[in-house]
Amino acid sequence: MDDAKRHAGEWSARYVQDGMVVGLGTGSTVFYAIQKIGERIKQGLTIRAVASSERSEKLAHDMNIPIVPFNSIDSIDLYIDGADEADRHGHLIKGGGGAHTREKILAYNSKKFIVIVDSSKLVERLGKFPLPVEILPFAAELTLNHLKALGCEPRLRRNGNQQYISENGNFTADCQFNAIEDPVQLDAAIRSIPGVVATGLFVNTMVNLVIAGYADGTVKEI
Ligand code: A5P
Repeated sequence: MDDAKRHAGEWSARYVQDGMVVGLGTGSTVFYAIQKIGERIKQGLTIRAVASSERSEKLAHDMNIPIVPFNSIDSIDLYIDGADEADRHGHLIKGGGGAHTREKILAYNSKKFIVIVDSSKLVERLGKFPLPVEILPFAAELTLNHLKALGCEPRLRRNGNQQYISENGNFTADCQFNAIEDPVQLDAAIRSIPGVVATGLFVNTMVNLVIAGYADGTVKEI
C-alpha cells in the first residue's frame, strides 16, 4: 500500500513548475509528494507554498519548501492532496486525517486540484468510508440528530480517551452511510444543517485530475 501511495505522490510532483504557488494537502500520500517537491527544490525549483495543516507545514519546513502566509497570495496555482475514496466521476470523500475543512478552502482557491490515491481508494460508489463532517461543539448532539436523519450512523471522533478536536477547535462526526447515491445532493443537504462547518465530500467540479498509484509501480491518470 505504501509503495502505491509513494508512486502516486511522487508522480504528482512533476506538475509543479517554477514560480507556482503550490497548496500542500495532508496525509500519508501527500507526504511523498512533499518529499519529492523538496528534492526538486534542492535541484533549483523555485515555488511558494501554503499548507492545509500544521503537520504538512512542518514537513514542508523540514524539506526547505518556503511556506508563505495566506494574505500574501491571491490564489493557488496547483493544489495536491490525497483522498479516502474517489469514484470514477471525480467525487471524493476526504477528512480521514481530520483536515478537510482547511483542505476544502485550499481546493476552492486553486486553479488546478490534483488528487493522489493508492488504487484501493478507487470505488464504484462512495460511502463505505465513514464521511467526516466537521461540526461546532455547541449543541453537537442536536447537529448529530440531523445528520442521523439523513440516513447515516454518525459517531463523534475520539482521540484516545478524549474528543477529537480539529485544528479549528471543532468536533468531527464520522458518518457511516455505506452507499452514497448522490454526493452533490448529500453535500448540499448536510451543509444546510446549522452547526455543520464542512463536509468531507468534495464534488467533481473541484477536481481536475486523479492520479492512482499501484503497488507494481504503475500509475494511472484518471
Ligand atoms: C486529511 O484530512 C485527508 O483528507 C486526507 O487527504 C485523506 O484522509 C487521505 O489520507 P491518506 O493519504 O493518509 O490516506
